[in-house]
Amino acid sequence: MASTETRNDTGSTVSHLECTYCGKTYSAAELQNLCPACGKVLYHRYDLAAARERLKPEMLKGRVASMWRYREVMPVLLTENIITLGEGWTPLLETNRLGKKLGLSNLMIKDESQNPTGSFKARGLSAAVSKAKELGATALSIPSAGNAGGAMAAYAARAGLEAAVMMPVDAPYINKLETYLTGAKTWLVEGLINDAGRILKANAARYGWFDLSTLKEPYRVEGKKTLGYELAEQLDWQLPDVVIYPTGGGTGLVGMWKAFDEMEELGWIGSKRPRMVVAQATGCAPIVRAYEEGAEFARPWENAQTGSSGIRVPVAIADYLMLQAVRQSGGTALAVSDEAMQEATREIASNEGIYPAPEGAATLAVLRRMLEENLVSPEERVVLFNTGAGQKYPEFMQFDLPVVPADTTEL
Ligand SMILES: Cc1ncc(COP(=O)(O)O)c(C=O)c1O
Ligand SMILES: [Zn+2]
Repeated sequence: MASTETRNDTGSTVSHLECTYCGKTYSAAELQNLCPACGKVLYHRYDLAAARERLKPEMLKGRVASMWRYREVMPVLLTENIITLGEGWTPLLETNRLGKKLGLSNLMIKDESQNPTGSFKARGLSAAVSKAKELGATALSIPSAGNAGGAMAAYAARAGLEAAVMMPVDAPYINKLETYLTGAKTWLVEGLINDAGRILKANAARYGWFDLSTLKEPYRVEGKKTLGYELAEQLDWQLPDVVIYPTGGGTGLVGMWKAFDEMEELGWIGSKRPRMVVAQATGCAPIVRAYEEGAEFARPWENAQTGSSGIRVPVAIADYLMLQAVRQSGGTALAVSDEAMQEATREIASNEGIYPAPEGAATLAVLRRMLEENLVSPEERVVLFNTGAGQKYPEFMQFDLPVVPADTTEL
């Protein structure tokens, strides 16, 4: 266990790690991956009674405009170990035109495209690289659909740590470029993120890599959970009615769910929760299928296919946590086609000026399905998560522009 002399200048109230499945507890002062007893996901637990005394919501005003404003409920003990590029505290934008078109009076977009490296992966990787550094890691590895690799490479570069990234050979071009350029050792696998994970794991001991695979370590989710804290703070501690989230490994979804419970214990919110909605692609929808089947875990999806690369995740270790959040909240899980995502990309961009990642566009396509099925009412407060910048995916949208001779006078 951590000694009583442990230095702590962030005010972090981190206490221990706890398995989300078997409940066994472990020290938070050592690098951990999955639960050594049962192989499931570990979570950080905090001394929330102490945090409740130490941190009041009104004290957040004037704090740093990044996710590190919640440092009492983050795992990093020393400020010098925080590796930051200004991630988080992204705007929660009203969508007057789009909302009106859909007949909704309270439709909002949490615009995560404004994060460093152009996606919400920055939150998880800022937290994970910071904590891994604090606990003595010198080299990190990550299997990625694309954006997580780019983010990990960026934070590792800033931390001066070695980085190894493997992503599918057909990952978006920008993801390959950003990862390579920021100095990570980068491989492309003729397969998917789970194949990359298997290959990196087999080589981890040889190269001394600490494995940062989604939820196979307890650090990334601590960054992602700040989505939940921000949602509450930006809405004056009244959570929305519906949250629609593009789900691959599910870190953001389960992270927000964790944040809601923490905030209730802190006395910042009540027991009401948003309906948590999983958005997946029809070509890769393991969580939707498991939800429909009433299963506790999800079967691997065969031949996963979608241009929405971040949600092309055929197996997720946190399947049971996602399914719990969806069911306990009275939410749902829906899959939409790539064509519907392309249409939704145009709709968000042309109505609101936000060019969303295909994953972000999927949330609008899912909202349309929910409206058709009367799963949302007009006055409800609905938040779509645009998890990344459309600019990172030039391959996803086709278009044709008229070319005119230079001496054209009339159009
Ligand atoms: C833009 C984008 N949205 C959503 C996701 C899915 O995120 P999660 O793994 O937290 O479910 C990813 C993952 O790569 C992503 O890059
Ligand atoms: Zn366990």
